[in-house]
Amino acid sequence: MQIKSSIDELRASLAPLRGQRIALVPTMGNLHAGHISLVEYAHQQADMVMVSIFVNPLQFGPNEDFDHYPRTLEADAALLEPAGTDYVFAPQVKDLYPNGRDHTTVVQVPELNALLCGTARPGHFDGVSSVVARLFNAVQPDVAIFGKKDYQQLLVLKRMTEELLMPIDIIGLSTFREKDGLAMSSRNAYMTAKERQQAPHIYQTLQSMTQAIRAGRQDFTVLEQEHAARLSQLGFKPDYVAVRRKADLQPAQSGDQPEVLVVLIAAHLGKARLIDNLEVVEDLLEANDER
Ligand code: PAF
Repeated sequence: MQIKSSIDELRASLAPLRGQRIALVPTMGNLHAGHISLVEYAHQQADMVMVSIFVNPLQFGPNEDFDHYPRTLEADAALLEPAGTDYVFAPQVKDLYPNGRDHTTVVQVPELNALLCGTARPGHFDGVSSVVARLFNAVQPDVAIFGKKDYQQLLVLKRMTEELLMPIDIIGLSTFREKDGLAMSSRNAYMTAKERQQAPHIYQTLQSMTQAIRAGRQDFTVLEQEHAARLSQLGFKPDYVAVRRKADLQPAQSGDQPEVLVVLIAAHLGKARLIDNLEVVEDLLEANDER
């Protein structure tokens, strides 16, 4: 496994490999088993697997955790090598934003960038699409793999790739969960032991809502309000509890079939902001291939 930090070096080493199928798994590092499952899947899909590790300042708000976000390159490399990673691309901020973050070209995916997490974190998805566009241009992968835990991010990136005519297959893999159902996330470490015990209520809420919809409930707004109130009673501060259409994250309308819907939650618990979602009828993979 080779680790590259400069774009010139990266391009020079990829040049003789063009023609092979390249998979990219973009990450911000501080990797967990969920990331590793993305890499293992990438390994089955391509001749060569590249993992990028970059804590992207553009997607953090002014009062968010950019400065404290764990940078653990050595530990990450030790997990990545046995999982089948060929290259790690770990650029510096100046490599991706040579003119500084306030003077840089921004890629925006309108509408999708402003809903749900986009309301709570203005500019977040512009930061995500701006960095992923750069990573795609630097690596020129054939396929890129993301987790479905960041469902809105996946949609934003699919839309960006489609509209900018980037010849890259975007694959979303099912969320990797702890035994008690909590979605794996680098930010789970921000919770105290007590909060960590409470955290699986998010997944339980998603399950309760998806079951209710499968059983025929169509009063989506009431369903959202009931479950948001229950999370508040349990000590969470929900940003949203939402039943949305999978295709564009617009609010569900009565008459919508369960297959087209996804339930999404973002809620604060102490210092952590937890996000999770569950398709009402789960697509195991956002691609034709079987995992
Ligand atoms: O999901 C993440 O880890 C990040 O948002 C991503 C896609 C690597 C962009 O910085």
